[in-house]
Amino acid sequence: MSMTAETAGMTVIPSGAACGAEIRGVDPSQDLPQPVIDAIAEAWRKHLVIYFRGFDLTLDQQLRFAGRFGDLGLRKQAPDGLRERTEGILQTNEYTLLVSNMKVDGKPVGAFGEGDMWFHIDSGYSEKPYKYTFLYAIEIPSKGGNTLFANQYMAYDDLSADMKAKIEGSKALHIHEYKRSERVDLAQDISKVPHWFHPVAVRHPETGKRALFVDRLMTQRIEGLSAEESESVLNQLWDHAENPKYVYEHVWQLKDFVMWDNRCLTHGRTWFSPQENRLLRRCTVEGTPLGG
Ligand code: OGA
Ligand code: MN
Repeated sequence: MSMTAETAGMTVIPSGAACGAEIRGVDPSQDLPQPVIDAIAEAWRKHLVIYFRGFDLTLDQQLRFAGRFGDLGLRKQAPDGLRERTEGILQTNEYTLLVSNMKVDGKPVGAFGEGDMWFHIDSGYSEKPYKYTFLYAIEIPSKGGNTLFANQYMAYDDLSADMKAKIEGSKALHIHEYKRSERVDLAQDISKVPHWFHPVAVRHPETGKRALFVDRLMTQRIEGLSAEESESVLNQLWDHAENPKYVYEHVWQLKDFVMWDNRCLTHGRTWFSPQENRLLRRCTVEGTPLGG
């Protein structure tokens, strides 16, 4: 990292071998000078998941900070038929999504409810999956509800030469029925279920590196293969991509502010007790179409 007077107090502490780093000495609630933003971006490209710990962060401050890394992502609207599975009743801002299991009068206040979540890519089912996601912890359970991040550069690099050749140039269907730990039923008419095709291995637009771009929750079919062969290849890829050696597990503390890159990571969530409250505030940065 190049040092300027402004970045002199910043330290980057890697979380482990897979990915992830804590940044200390920088307060994300402040209007930061550009050299500090550049230093964070550099650490982010290297560690894929970055977090700040223990800072108070208002909604406006979160959006201002995220907006330094690109255009803020609009919250996606689910189609009518899938509506009740999604966003909850307490969404106050078009760029924000409250992520919570909490309910008011029996109605969920936020998205993604309770329990575990399979590995996925945020808005992977759309033409332009979000580049970045930012989550700020407002209430967390006493245990569980950890967020798992799997480094898909490493997962791609470690594939056998045969598997690399098999997936080269092919695309896969990403589709989302707003479920959390269940596969999509492809026997239905999918025209009303959000979906898109992306390369099975993408090239990260900024780093130029290849990354595996499939996930267990939303990637359902590899184009050009029979259903049976697609199933077999996807199962191999999912199991491979989720190997614990590629995973950083984020154990949340109150006021953690975690940000990740969806083009080289998948993420999921571990189970937590439905008896406990969990509330995080999410925002995103818009993405671009991805090539192989
Ligand atoms: C998300 C997400 C996981 C979690 O906000 O996109 O996947 O830990 N959250 O709640
Ligand atoms: Mn997600």
